[in-house]
Amino acid sequence: MTDYSSGILFGGDYNPEQWEESTWQDDFDKLSQAQVNSATINVFSWPLLEPAEGEYDFEQLDRIMAHLEHNQICVVLATATAAVPPWLAHKYPEVMRTDINGILQRHGKRHNACPNSPIFKRKSKALVERLVARYHTNSLITHWHVSNEYGGTCYCENCAKAFRVWLKERYGTLEAVNQAWNSHFWGHTYGSWEEINPPMRTSDIFSSGKPVLGGAALDYRRFQSDSLLENYKMERDIIRKYDSKRPITTNFMGSQKDLDYFKWAPELDVIAWDNYPSLDTPASFTAFSHDLMRGLKHQPFMLMEQTPNQQNWQTYNALKKPGEMRMLSYQALAHGANTVQFFQLKQSRNGAEKFHGALLSHSVSTQTRVFQEVAQLGGELAQLPQALIESEIHPNVALIFDWESYWGLENCIGPTTQLDYVASVYRYYQALYQQGIAVEIVSKQDDFSPYKLLMAPSMYITTDEVTEKIKAYTAAGGVFLTNVMSGLVDETDNIHLGGYPGQWRELLGLTIDEIDARPAAQAVTLHSATGIVGQGRTLCDLITPTTAHSLAWYGDETFYQGQACLTANEYGTGCAFYVGTYLDDQGLAFLMTQVLKRSQLAAKAAGEVEIMTRTTENQSFTFIINTGEHPQKIMNPYPDAYELLTQTNSPTDLELAPFAVIILQQDHE
Ligand code: GLA
Ligand code: ZN
Repeated sequence: MTDYSSGILFGGDYNPEQWEESTWQDDFDKLSQAQVNSATINVFSWPLLEPAEGEYDFEQLDRIMAHLEHNQICVVLATATAAVPPWLAHKYPEVMRTDINGILQRHGKRHNACPNSPIFKRKSKALVERLVARYHTNSLITHWHVSNEYGGTCYCENCAKAFRVWLKERYGTLEAVNQAWNSHFWGHTYGSWEEINPPMRTSDIFSSGKPVLGGAALDYRRFQSDSLLENYKMERDIIRKYDSKRPITTNFMGSQKDLDYFKWAPELDVIAWDNYPSLDTPASFTAFSHDLMRGLKHQPFMLMEQTPNQQNWQTYNALKKPGEMRMLSYQALAHGANTVQFFQLKQSRNGAEKFHGALLSHSVSTQTRVFQEVAQLGGELAQLPQALIESEIHPNVALIFDWESYWGLENCIGPTTQLDYVASVYRYYQALYQQGIAVEIVSKQDDFSPYKLLMAPSMYITTDEVTEKIKAYTAAGGVFLTNVMSGLVDETDNIHLGGYPGQWRELLGLTIDEIDARPAAQAVTLHSATGIVGQGRTLCDLITPTTAHSLAWYGDETFYQGQACLTANEYGTGCAFYVGTYLDDQGLAFLMTQVLKRSQLAAKAAGEVEIMTRTTENQSFTFIINTGEHPQKIMNPYPDAYELLTQTNSPTDLELAPFAVIILQQDHE
């Protein structure tokens, strides 16, 4: 639905309200030198638009829009509801959130509204209605940006009430709730709806952050994600009433924990996200995050924010090195981004973000390294062909990301405190990234049939429906891979009985009765017929194969020496692999060699050179990116291709300077 016909959106957050109006034109004169064609405005302006209850004043925003129009910069217009105005919090304290300790917050910070406050809903609705009615005919607007980086949780009385309503809708009866949560545990049996409270520090959450009743905690997370989604949808619907065409979005945050983005994605016209890698984020994790965002809709997305040089909210906000911002921008494009936007266009003079990087820094000079690099990139992006923007990515491998499993797994008390959902999923992504194999991240609701390999690491929660789908996929020739702590419970955290992993035992051809947990220093060697193949860490499943064959077994550090730890089970015409431990690099390489062979997938590249291909019906664009600081040399995979950025024919050997990017275009007749 997004219309990218005018090329790649290049720009970002701009907060002119923080500056004297006399400075605006100078900003635009400079920004246009960097080919900036878009500004995201009005993100935190509610008290300027409504200085007192019911009194609206759009004059300043009118002038900002007029300036943008005069300078031909298009607009991503935010709805300004991401921070509660002081008068609103002062007059109606209930609009603010109550934290997990039960403390009602006073006015301050941002992303601070209770999603279930009737007053917040009413007031934000009234504001958005007026904003959209006023600006929807303005042709400068390319996108609507609802609120900002939704997230966080509220535990107030309004949320408690709304939670009970949500539970009634989901379960019908209180008896069904008691049953789903198995609330007879520790005397939690509820006799009336009013007895149910949000799980929080003053009720059912331990100081570790973990809950007594896993089902209740899962439902509270679902409910809070849904509550914020209702806020989004309310604004979305108002915009749609006035504007039937322009895409509506909000900015996401990669693998954050609070929101089930797969549930949100159908409500957004285009996915937009904010990419803030830190000093030690590997290129493969950034790639993983882009792919997660693309996977939400299986469509191109917007790189809504990145910093041109440094963040300010991390321990060490290292500067991006010369060429690194350019490389990261192309990496986003390679994974499906169709915009390159920054936070922000002009650096704040004060406030919490004054040391956050911007295109125009405190020097307000166009001669800075940062400005020059941005300007060079802006020039390059403006030259890219339209076909690139219309191209798509079609990997052969699918990796399931499941927010419910994320919540459920990390709520587990035992077998270890070291359960990290994202790290576990990313580990398998990385194993393929290192082999140059592209991955599509999917939800459990997606169709698995297009893929040769389907991986579901740490997929803690399973249902009959998902299990049947995975079985059908495997029986029909697919290769399935899963690992320790997967397939263990139902949607409300009840263990699937009969031996682990419950519903998947037949598919995997094995059963597990016990899971050992071992400190990091007590790794276990893993043996195959050819010798030691790696080490297992942290958790070790005691596997009894039924129809599966063992690929490797535990060494003599344990009493379960000789018991299987890696297995493969031929199932229909496909195969299901099981990994009963967290593998070290050697173990993972041993496993993946067999998995790739069985899936008939071939490795492409290795090391710090990333290769991704975007295709249209007639053309392909292969991005070859040196993500690191050392020069690299690789054989050109498509020596007859045309190099887009230098507009030359490409050589047989590709020499890649640090952070270098090559885009090879091929035309297929
Ligand atoms: C987020 C927000 C922005 C800004 C940046 C700073 O992404 O959306 O408003 O605070 O972080 O990195
Ligand atoms: Zn609340």
